Amino acid sequence: MQRIVEVEKISFEEKEESSLRPQNFNEYIGQKNIKKNLHIAISASKKRGEFLDHILLFGPPGLGKTTLSFVIANEMNTNIKVTSAPMIEKSGDLAAILTNLNKGDILFIDEIHRLGSNIEEILYSAMEDFRLDIIIGSGPAAQTIKVDIEKFTLIGATTRAGMLSNPLRDRFGMTFRMQFYEQGELSKIINLAAKKLNKSIMQDSSDEIAKRSRGTPRIALRLLKRIRDFSEYYDEDSISIDTTLKALNELKVDANGFDELDLAFLDLLVKARGKPLGLSTISASLSEDERTIEDVIEPYLLANNYVERTSKGRIATKKAYDLLGIANNDLF
Ligand SMILES: Nc1ncnc2c1ncn2[C@@H]1O[C@H](COP(=O)(O)OP(=O)(O)OP(=O)(O)O)[C@@H](O)[C@H]1O
Ligand SMILES: [Mg+2]
Repeated sequence: MQRIVEVEKISFEEKEESSLRPQNFNEYIGQKNIKKNLHIAISASKKRGEFLDHILLFGPPGLGKTTLSFVIANEMNTNIKVTSAPMIEKSGDLAAILTNLNKGDILFIDEIHRLGSNIEEILYSAMEDFRLDIIIGSGPAAQTIKVDIEKFTLIGATTRAGMLSNPLRDRFGMTFRMQFYEQGELSKIINLAAKKLNKSIMQDSSDEIAKRSRGTPRIALRLLKRIRDFSEYYDEDSISIDTTLKALNELKVDANGFDELDLAFLDLLVKARGKPLGLSTISASLSEDERTIEDVIEPYLLANNYVERTSKGRIATKKAYDLLGIANNDLF
């Protein structure tokens, strides 16, 4: 089943998403700290006429890692080449990408935690010395050829910083952790997107959508587009709060932006009454794979203190019991 509040990209969204992507720091809302640091790094490197250090962006899906990489390229006035780790199957694939880079290009590798270890090793010398060490043949007859490549900036994006090997992580000069967005920031993103979509929206409507987007721009934009359909169906000039509430109800997104799967997850933990549940138990009970639970469902619930992760497993907090309206005086 496709969830409307799914944070991962739905394939048809790719093209539409790029049309709503902010182009520069001004349009890129929120992530203040990251923006400030990047702004300084970019200005300094431009002044010195040098290239930007390699950058690692990590955080849950839909928070704007890809978008930020394009903004960085724009601000640096450089080209950006985009690829993703699962597409780099052989070391030759990566060698081809690297030798085709022009001076100062940005190479964006999405899901960088999924690179194979033999491929990662090629990246080490490329990042550090802008050189490829290619091994030809095997056994005692194996030979290493060194090939120089142009200086470039690698931007790696990952939802799982913990899955990156230390040597790879250490080669990034800057590492930034993306934060969930505040409501006010999401309202701004929604208003800007509505403008680009040529659809007017009332402020209380954008605030309501923002409140239910789980801190995630991708969800906010997806809800906006669906609600716009409802609004056009009712021949509204401007998206009203009535239509917004009706549509959200229809789409089964509750007041906190949770859908059935989020609630089932919380319900499971609450019913355990303080006994920590392991990932595999949760996965089996919900019939969802572990990756979905860790990457998609949990991050927002952890960041907002509905759930705690202990060494023994996950437990529900008082906030979760209160949300589900279940008595907890004996527990807290
Ligand atoms: N700071 C922002 N300001 C305005 N719009 C944003 C911002 N961040 C993200 N968006 C919008 O949200 C959408 C999703 O962002 P993006 O694709 O960059 O997320 P991501 O972190 O790369 O996700 P994934 O991990 O799934 O690749 C984009 O289409 C973009 O328009
Ligand atoms: Mg992305």
